[in-house]
Amino acid sequence: MLNYDKSIVEELEESRPKIPVGLLSRQEKDRLIERGFLALYRWYVDRSQALRNWSPDRDVLWKNIRQDHSYEVNRILEGFFAVEQYVPDYVENIVNLIRGSHGRSHFQIRWGSEEAKHADLWHNACLFSRFRSPDWLRKYMGELRSNQWTLPWEGDPMRMIFYTVFQERATQINYLGMGVIAKGQSKKEEFKDSADPVLVQASRLIAIDEAAHYNFFLEGARLFLYYYPAQAIEAMHDVIKYFSMPAGAIIPDYDEFSTIVHKAGIYGPREHAKDVIQVALNNLGMASKKMLEEGIRKTRLVPDEDGNLRETAIFPGLDFSHIEDAVRRMFDRTGKFEAEIGFDEVDPLEFKPGY
Ligand SMILES: [Fe+2]
Ligand SMILES: [Fe+2]
Repeated sequence: MLNYDKSIVEELEESRPKIPVGLLSRQEKDRLIERGFLALYRWYVDRSQALRNWSPDRDVLWKNIRQDHSYEVNRILEGFFAVEQYVPDYVENIVNLIRGSHGRSHFQIRWGSEEAKHADLWHNACLFSRFRSPDWLRKYMGELRSNQWTLPWEGDPMRMIFYTVFQERATQINYLGMGVIAKGQSKKEEFKDSADPVLVQASRLIAIDEAAHYNFFLEGARLFLYYYPAQAIEAMHDVIKYFSMPAGAIIPDYDEFSTIVHKAGIYGPREHAKDVIQVALNNLGMASKKMLEEGIRKTRLVPDEDGNLRETAIFPGLDFSHIEDAVRRMFDRTGKFEAEIGFDEVDPLEFKPGY
């Protein structure tokens, strides 16, 4: 008779998971995630080309931008430019990390082409608002580029996708906030007279892109959350805990910029908690940050009868059926697009339940 450790079986029984135990092999899960990303990427590019093919030069009437904006408004524009202009580093480092994935790496290049337009758009805003001279801006950009952005999560594709979820949402919140000021709707006294239709248009164009980016990364993060819930929840937790905006540490006078942005009511700890973290967590089927922390504590890897470590978890705050529905919907939506082209006949996309 097989001699086994009774305590392990007892532990297995006791920690019978609240989400079903996975059915698929690691290889099959990885294949599904990769195929999902490829479909998502194809679908994204098709929409992006059709709906968001705007020009940072032609689609904003730069000649009409106000030339008497306050120091604060100008510093915000300059800060937005500084963050976006690190796009070569963002693309290089992220592509290197995920170059093995067709969908993720090609997406990241497309994403980079959109982020480059954001950098050019804010560069135009800085140039036409006449706050600084063209020479000053050239020097400033040289100074910025003398530092290089590096990955906040080196060698960790899963943590990086969660990072980009929160970062894209945060960026979108920043631009929406700028839009409110540009409409003359700010509740802050110092920003009440900053209405500028040119900046309304600029903020609008760019905020729509950021929403599309957020959505791509969110769908991708859900793939990990669905097929690798324990690891994904831990990744999400770490990313939230150590989150900071990209390039903040290498941009000169970044503290002044973030103080102005905070005082302008655009983005501060309150917006971060309420409009970024909570919104993204809800979209990821997670009730709250507190529940996430509790889930981590209760997550364990337990050996099964064959001695393999098996995921068994109790995630009190995770709505797992929400994740499964969202992943299914993503497969349906992108599958319809693929069928229009005929991919369904050569390389069909098929959702497989993991549980
Ligand atoms: Fe951007
Ligand atoms: Fe973005």
